[in-house]
Amino acid sequence: MAILITGGAGYIGTHAMVEFLNAGREVICVDNFSNSKPCALERVKQITGKDFKSYEVDLLDYDALEKVFVENKIESCIHFAGLKAVGESCEKPLLYYHNNLTGTFNLCALLQKYGAKKIVFSSSATVYGKPASVPITEDFPLSTTNPYGETKLMIERILKDLHAADNEWSVSILRYFNPIGAHKSGLIGEDPKGIPNNLLPYVAQVATGKRPYLSIFGDDYNTHDGTGVRDYIHVVDLAKAHLKAIERAEKVSGVEYFNVGTGVGYSVLDIVKAYEAATGAKVPYKIVARRPGDIDECYANPDKAYRVLGWRAENNIEDMCRDSYRWQSNNPDGYGE
Ligand code: NAD
Ligand code: UD1
Repeated sequence: MAILITGGAGYIGTHAMVEFLNAGREVICVDNFSNSKPCALERVKQITGKDFKSYEVDLLDYDALEKVFVENKIESCIHFAGLKAVGESCEKPLLYYHNNLTGTFNLCALLQKYGAKKIVFSSSATVYGKPASVPITEDFPLSTTNPYGETKLMIERILKDLHAADNEWSVSILRYFNPIGAHKSGLIGEDPKGIPNNLLPYVAQVATGKRPYLSIFGDDYNTHDGTGVRDYIHVVDLAKAHLKAIERAEKVSGVEYFNVGTGVGYSVLDIVKAYEAATGAKVPYKIVARRPGDIDECYANPDKAYRVLGWRAENNIEDMCRDSYRWQSNNPDGYGE
C-alpha cells in the first residue's frame, strides 16, 4: 500500500519524501515538473538509499493520473502539487484557479473512486488574511487577498464538503507558516526560478555573493523594530508534520486543521542578524518601500498540532539559517539545468 505524493519533486515535497522513506513508508511521486526538476528526486534517493516510483504526470490530465491508480495500490495522499507565487497569481488568476482547483478535483475524484479517502493538504497561513491579533489559532476568521490564497481557501472548503458527503474521508489540513532551511545533507533545498520572491532564498543569495544586497520591504510596521514579523519553520520539521498527520488520518476520519509553525515570530532584521551569526557571512541590506499586500505580524499558536498530532518544531532559527546557507553554498544554481 502506497502513499501518493503529489508535487513530490518540489521544495517541501522532496523533504517529505525523505522523511516518509526513512520511516519505511512506500511512496509514489506524481509531478509535472512545472516548478521542479527530476534530479531533485535522484537526490532524495541518494539521501535515503531507497528507491521509489515516480510519474511525470500533470494533475490536470485525469486519464494519465488514473493510470497511476490502476498500476499501484494507493491508500492515501499528501497533496503538495500547486502553483504558489502570490504575485503571479494576481497576473494570471485563471492559470492558478485552473491548475490548483482542477488538479485537486481530478485527484479527489480518483482518491474516491479507488477507495483511498485519506488526504493531507498543503494549506497556508495566508488563509488568515490580516489577522486581528497574534498568535493565530486555527479558529481565527478566514479571508484572502489574492488568487493564490483563494485557491487554498477554496480547496479547504471542497475537502470539508467531501467529508460532509461521505464521512469515510480523513482530511488533514496543514496551514504552513513560513517554511525555510534545507535538509542537513545540503543535497535538497529550495530552488526558486529567477529572482526569489521570498525572504530566505533572497538572503541566501546575498550571503553567498550572488546578489549584492537585500531590499527590506518597509521598516515602519507595527513590530518591535519596524520590519515584518513571521513564523519561520524548518522545512524538515514541516515535512515531519505530514508523517504525523497521515498516521492520524489512518486512524480517524474527519476534517482537522493544524497550524504548522514554531509559535515564535522573527522580524526581517532579526533574520538578517541570525543569518550572519549562524554562517559568518555578511548580508548587506537597504530599506525600501513596503511590498503591497504585506502584513505586520503573522505567527502561529501551534499547540493544537502538539496536542493532537504530538508534533512540534525541533529546529531553531540558527539551524534554519545554517542549513539554508549550506544548501545555497553547495548549489549556487540550485539543481542546475
Ligand atoms: P514547489 O513549487 O517547490 O512544489 C510544488 C510542486 O508541484 C512542484 O514540483 C510542481 O512542479 C508541482 N506541480 C504544480 N502543479 C502541478 C500539476 N498540475 N500537476 C503535477 N504537479 C504539479 O512548492 P513548495 O514550496 O514545495 O510548496 C508545496 C505546497 O505547499 C504548495 O501547494 C504550496 O502552495 C504550499 N505552501 C507553500 C509554502 C511555501 O512557503 N513554500 C507556504 C504555504 C503553503
Ligand atoms: C509570502 C506570501 C504568502 C505565502 C508565503 C509563503 C506575499 C504577499 N505573501 O508570505 O501568501 O503564503 O509567502 O510562500 O507574497 N521581505 C523583504 N525582502 C524580500 C522578501 C521579503 O523584506 O526580498 C519581507 C516581507 O516584507 C515579509 C518577510 O520578509 O515581511 C517575509 O516575506 P516572504 O518570505 O515573502 O513571506 P510572506 O510575506 O510571509
